[in-house]
Amino acid sequence: MEGAAVHEDSIVSLGDVTFHTASIPAVDTNLYSLSSEEAAFFKAQTGIDDDEDLKRHILEVQAKAYELATYPCIHGFVFLRLELSRFAVYEHILKLGRERPDAILLDIGCCFGVDARKAAMDGFPAKNIIASDINNGFLELSHELFRTTPASYPGSFLPGDVFDPAFLCIAERSDDVSSAPAIDLSSLKSLNPLHGRISAINAAKFFHLFSEEKQLHLARALAGLLSAQPGSVICGEQVGTLETGIVTPKISGSVHQLFAHSPQTWSSLWDGEVFEKGSVKVETELVEVAIHGMQFFVMTWSVMRL
Ligand SMILES: C[S@@+](CC[C@H](N)C(=O)[O-])C[C@H]1O[C@@H](n2cnc3c(N)ncnc32)[C@H](O)[C@@H]1O
Repeated sequence: MEGAAVHEDSIVSLGDVTFHTASIPAVDTNLYSLSSEEAAFFKAQTGIDDDEDLKRHILEVQAKAYELATYPCIHGFVFLRLELSRFAVYEHILKLGRERPDAILLDIGCCFGVDARKAAMDGFPAKNIIASDINNGFLELSHELFRTTPASYPGSFLPGDVFDPAFLCIAERSDDVSSAPAIDLSSLKSLNPLHGRISAINAAKFFHLFSEEKQLHLARALAGLLSAQPGSVICGEQVGTLETGIVTPKISGSVHQLFAHSPQTWSSLWDGEVFEKGSVKVETELVEVAIHGMQFFVMTWSVMRL
């Protein structure tokens, strides 16, 4: 299972998050649901109009993905929720795609890359969207979910590990505010040629997979990719907390142990540690989730260059 390691004592890890194999829930098709907006999106994207046919198709792909790695967001069908489009910063990202010449959008830790597909449907030029994940199987399943091929969908997929410096190293932050020349994303082998070139980065349900030290490393690495042009933005959402530290949320029936930032420490990490203090605007929203036996805080956030 790529991205997950099974040890003899039956402890599984996804990123740095550990839990017992016995607590991994089986696929539960009863958790499948689509709002009318989500149904319209998936029907338009897949060309499947019938609700039952669409459900069958999504369940088939979901089961294959859950075989690859048992992420709760796959188990709970959270990947259907079009999360990026609900972020306050989403319209701004679409505007960057419309108005900034050759603006690039990166969906990092993308799994099926649903957010990337949604942004493409809403007008961000697909040829300037890159979706990246450590698990190439998820990137292949994106084509299966959306019934596309590399020839029919102009967006790019790039497999790689964000902690492998050959794929993404920490670069000096760029102060060059001139617009970058167009780059053929489909020819990339790593993210490193994009240092200082990316206008918008989405990191949804991603940072909380990693330890405190690795979250800081990842923040620095993504900051190095961001264009210095005012308005360039990194956004995401993850398990949050009122008091920074180890939290043990119950998600999809199993207790996960992970490191979570509070809005205060997350803001000061970006504004002062990763970026020079006062050079970015950080916005956070912490909401308590309590549904289907799950209980935890979710923090949605954005970091915009001023
Ligand atoms: C919880 S899923 C979130 C997927 C998607 N962003 C969403 O919002 O539905 C986390 C994703 O991060 C990917 N991932 C885990 N470790 C990674 C790494 N070191 N580098 C790149 N991607 C990684 C996993 O393969 C998985 O698809």
